[in-house]
Amino acid sequence: MKPMNIGLLGLGTVGAGTYTVLSRNAEEITRRAGRPIRIVVVAEKNLVRANEIVKGTCRVVDDAFAVVNDPEVDVVIELIGGYGVARELVLKAIANGKHVVTANKALLAMHGNEIFAEAQKKGVMVAFEAAVAGGIPIIKAVREGLSANRIEWIAGIINGTTNFILSEMREKGLSFDSVLKEAQRLGYAEADPTFDIEGVDAGHKITILSSIAFGIPMQFDKAYVEGISKLDGKDIRYAEEMGYRIKLLGITKRSNAGVELRVHPTLIPAKRLIANVEGAMNAVVVQGDAVGPTLYYGKGAGAEPTASAVIADLVDVTRLHTADPEHRVPHLAFQPDQMVDLPILPIAEVQSCYYLRLRVQDEPGVLADITRVLADEKISIDAVIQKEPGEGEKEADLILLTHLISEKWMNGAISKLEKLPVVVGKVTRIRMEELGK
Ligand code: HSE
Repeated sequence: MKPMNIGLLGLGTVGAGTYTVLSRNAEEITRRAGRPIRIVVVAEKNLVRANEIVKGTCRVVDDAFAVVNDPEVDVVIELIGGYGVARELVLKAIANGKHVVTANKALLAMHGNEIFAEAQKKGVMVAFEAAVAGGIPIIKAVREGLSANRIEWIAGIINGTTNFILSEMREKGLSFDSVLKEAQRLGYAEADPTFDIEGVDAGHKITILSSIAFGIPMQFDKAYVEGISKLDGKDIRYAEEMGYRIKLLGITKRSNAGVELRVHPTLIPAKRLIANVEGAMNAVVVQGDAVGPTLYYGKGAGAEPTASAVIADLVDVTRLHTADPEHRVPHLAFQPDQMVDLPILPIAEVQSCYYLRLRVQDEPGVLADITRVLADEKISIDAVIQKEPGEGEKEADLILLTHLISEKWMNGAISKLEKLPVVVGKVTRIRMEELGK
């Protein structure tokens, strides 16, 4: 049987992992795919490193365009990252009639609509399992396994770096800055770690999940993205005392008014399985109307876990290569002419429960002043805890948990609270999600 010929762009961590796993499991993979899958050419700037890895088993070039223009190549694996040259390479590969497998979440979240439209025109596949949650087959699950369902919401820990940081802060009482350095040393972080800690990487991934869950275009520009860099260890501690964990969640939810698309630190009940996902692990909960909640857990980064997803896509592409394009699984789960343009709700329109921490004067009547402001804004309080002031202090931390309320009402209440003479400094606000019963 004629092999499927692969051109690999980028032999970094994931590229090397892909090469290793494809070689190690070649026999098993061939039995699944129906024909051998072999890398025939690799494009890598660092030729010395590339030659050390491939050891003469395939050609090595330093010009990625030579690979996407190579007539011998059937499928291009794009592992360069970013959305500059990677976009040009992917579009060129598609224009040349080649299938594409990519792990590039930023590229798809920013330019996915253009890329999938071009792929549709040319009748080629663009597969992207590795772009979200690394080795977890979450794209397959949402796009195929749950296709009977009306998906209601997805909530995921989809950035390992920030989950590692939050776990270390909670378990060891360490500060944000010291743990970030450790995460970078361990190699979890993106090339630009602000993409991790400011929630941008998770924003790219939840944008992709939202698109395949609801059959809507990629709309990263409308996502609300807030990271963990301003999170205070105190709030992680107080949340834990109240039976909650703080996780950086990517959330997308369908409501009557539109689709929520957001990333932010979130209090979730400690008893939920996903609240107990620690370290650099990823987990995604998908709520379907028929199936109920389903949970997917595994490694969201790293050489071989991500290679696992890349190669699963290669097997899919190999099996479907000769199928009529309209008989393949649609790129974004829904048939291209059945995509809908539901509005993405601005964060001010999103409803959630809130954790509020206020620094207040420790004197009579303070609680009454605060609850009056909240009552005026129709905000219902679920729980209140006042911490004892420290030795010799005249101020105390007051924690309030609220019931469901629109963000715009909460913004109004917070600005009124901050004007109260008894409230010192800024109010800390963290959104809360129950994530089922
Ligand atoms: N920087 C990402 C993470 C890698 O920390 O999860 C995988 O996308």
